[in-house]
Amino acid sequence: MLRIALFVAMLLRLSLVSGDDMSLVGTWSSKSNSVFTGPDFYDPVDELLIEPALPGLSYSFTEDGHFEEATYQITPNPQNHSCPVAALIYQHGTYEELKNGTLILTPFEVDGRQLLSEPCSDNGVSTYSRYHQIEKFRSYALSVDSYHGRYKLQLYESDGSAMQPLYLAYRPPLMLPTQTLNPTSASEATAESVSNKVKRSLENRFRTNAVKNPGFDYDFWWWLSVGMMGVGSALYFFC
Ligand SMILES: *[C@@H]1O[C@H](CO)[C@@H](O)[C@H](O)[C@H]1NC(C)=O
Ligand SMILES: *[C@@H]1O[C@H](CO)[C@@H](O)[C@H](O)[C@H]1NC(C)=O
Repeated sequence: MLRIALFVAMLLRLSLVSGDDMSLVGTWSSKSNSVFTGPDFYDPVDELLIEPALPGLSYSFTEDGHFEEATYQITPNPQNHSCPVAALIYQHGTYEELKNGTLILTPFEVDGRQLLSEPCSDNGVSTYSRYHQIEKFRSYALSVDSYHGRYKLQLYESDGSAMQPLYLAYRPPLMLPTQTLNPTSASEATAESVSNKVKRSLENRFRTNAVKNPGFDYDFWWWLSVGMMGVGSALYFFC
């Protein structure tokens, strides 16, 4: 009897994690829940990287093949614990999913930025520079984290090692405009209009259609209760 109930519960669980909601689209953030892509991390008008309260990373993906990345990493210095290195990185561009599951993120070369802070060797002046790094993930997995009731994205690096898991924070994603933000001088003619668009988008940021995903996932609990009812009727049926 118990076996049948478990089987039904398993079926329900499978159907739960194979819906349309299982998609890369959205803004994903690591457990610290403090780093998010979008205008609060990078201000392209003033070319400003904004330090979040805690280290972490965030990736956003759109349905039409664009991505944005925000990372804030602190690397301890084994020689001197009071000299950790902090790095903020912003990139955006396009992504592609190959048939074998490999994910390739190709940033717009002129837009990537890095702010590197080495407190014991840079005399308090952080280094601000361009940054461009194509990223390849061997694969990824989407699931529902049963403890938090939130969608979880697990990315695997090209050597197969698992990155820290990311959790869905916004869907639709919270992102800066997905076209090139800082055109090179060769395309100066369009610089003005793009910059205007960016400003407008920043002014509109409190009217974005992005919706914060609550820690409590109502969909998940709704399906879970439907599942419980299903188990209940199955038990009734088989008894
Ligand atoms: C570690 O760095 C601090 C700050 O620069 C310095 O005062 C201290 O002497 C360093 N300690 C060692 C063991 O190098
Ligand atoms: C998937 O295909 C790409 C391109 O052919 C290759 O570079 C990558 O290593 C492949 N990934 C796996 C996991 O085999």
